[in-house]
Amino acid sequence: MNESPTAAVPPDCIALGVTSSIAAYKAADLTSQLVQAGIAVHVVMTPNATKLVHPQTFMTLSRHPVTVDLWQAPDWRPEHVSLAERIALLVVAPATANFLGKYAHGVADDALTTLALSHSGPVLVAPAMNPRMWRHPAVRENVRILRERGVAFVGPERGRVACGEETEAGRMASVESVRRAVEAHLAVARRAGLRGGRRLRVLVTAGPTREALDPVRYLSNRSSGRMGYALAEVAAAAGHDVVLVSGPTGLAQPQSCRVTDVVTAEEMARAVEREFPSCDLLIMCAAVADFRPAAPAAGKVKKGAAGLTVEFERTRDILETVAGLRREGQTVVGFAAETEAVLENARGKLTRKRLDWIVANDVRRADVGFGGDCNQVTMVSRAGAEVSLPRLSKIETAAEILLAVTAAG
Ligand code: CTP
Repeated sequence: MNESPTAAVPPDCIALGVTSSIAAYKAADLTSQLVQAGIAVHVVMTPNATKLVHPQTFMTLSRHPVTVDLWQAPDWRPEHVSLAERIALLVVAPATANFLGKYAHGVADDALTTLALSHSGPVLVAPAMNPRMWRHPAVRENVRILRERGVAFVGPERGRVACGEETEAGRMASVESVRRAVEAHLAVARRAGLRGGRRLRVLVTAGPTREALDPVRYLSNRSSGRMGYALAEVAAAAGHDVVLVSGPTGLAQPQSCRVTDVVTAEEMARAVEREFPSCDLLIMCAAVADFRPAAPAAGKVKKGAAGLTVEFERTRDILETVAGLRREGQTVVGFAAETEAVLENARGKLTRKRLDWIVANDVRRADVGFGGDCNQVTMVSRAGAEVSLPRLSKIETAAEILLAVTAAG
């Protein structure tokens, strides 16, 4: 289970198993999003799932035939064997209690469970069921067995399920969460070396911070959090224990890590200081405010006056503070968002903040960086290594960064 794919496996080909939870309709959107992301998706449905969503929907969205019946193989080779050899990842979304039970106990009585047992690469499941079923000791035990074998889970989440219960976990993770997890697992699968090392405790910060001017206004920056979230997702997909300290973003919380939400630079500083002593690797990707209003107004500032002067005070430099406290074996990585003399400024920060690596990006460029899906960065290490990456998706960039900093660490 979860071996690295061989070089012959096309990196962007997955099988998507769809089982008979009412959340099967979300799998149609997931298929569409994955195909748009350039991933070849082969859908395998259980017979019951076809009663909820017609296979034609998946065939049209995936542009590939949908497998339901084991006995209608288009090839001399059984479909479950030939498909298992072609895919880099098996995703099952939604995954019912019935599928988890059969998979945990080696039952292979339809196309999907047969494929699951024929596939030796990574597997990601997104369970969806009534919260009472998710809580049942039999399901808990099956989840434990599968986790122990290296199966990755995304969700389920709390929230409304079809039968109306809202307070407990049971609902399938959002399509955005599952898509991001799929992309992270594929990025890891493509770089077999990411899996190589020991399991690390990784602390990642992401997003902007907000500093209050008055009770209704704040100062912030254009960081979307996507780069930090990608780092957290990829590190988790590689099997590391990840803590994500996140400023306010509009992104769905990754299900694969422990998330601490913060708002201000001071809250982020406290969260990082609390988590840092037990981490092996800190990646400080957040765009932390350097200044905050020295005396935020207690009430809303009125526009009566012609102008407004606000006095600012410096926030603490989190990275510099914790890098100074680090013990033997801890790796500290910073980011440098620059608008000019990108590498020169980044090198200055690497030395001044006593970092192991700095990841520099030019935030003037409109096609990479803030807000978008892509980034183009150069990494510089204290030991003198310099790695310039091409323009890549943030998930791919995250995988390259992790590969470099964990190989060195
Ligand atoms: N950083 C931090 N605490 C701050 C400010 C920045 O930990 N109060 C971290 C960032 O998360 C990033 C690195 O320091 O990893 C560099 O951040 P950047 O904004 O590029 O540089 P600054 O140190 O703020 O310097 P300047 O604003 O002068 O470029």
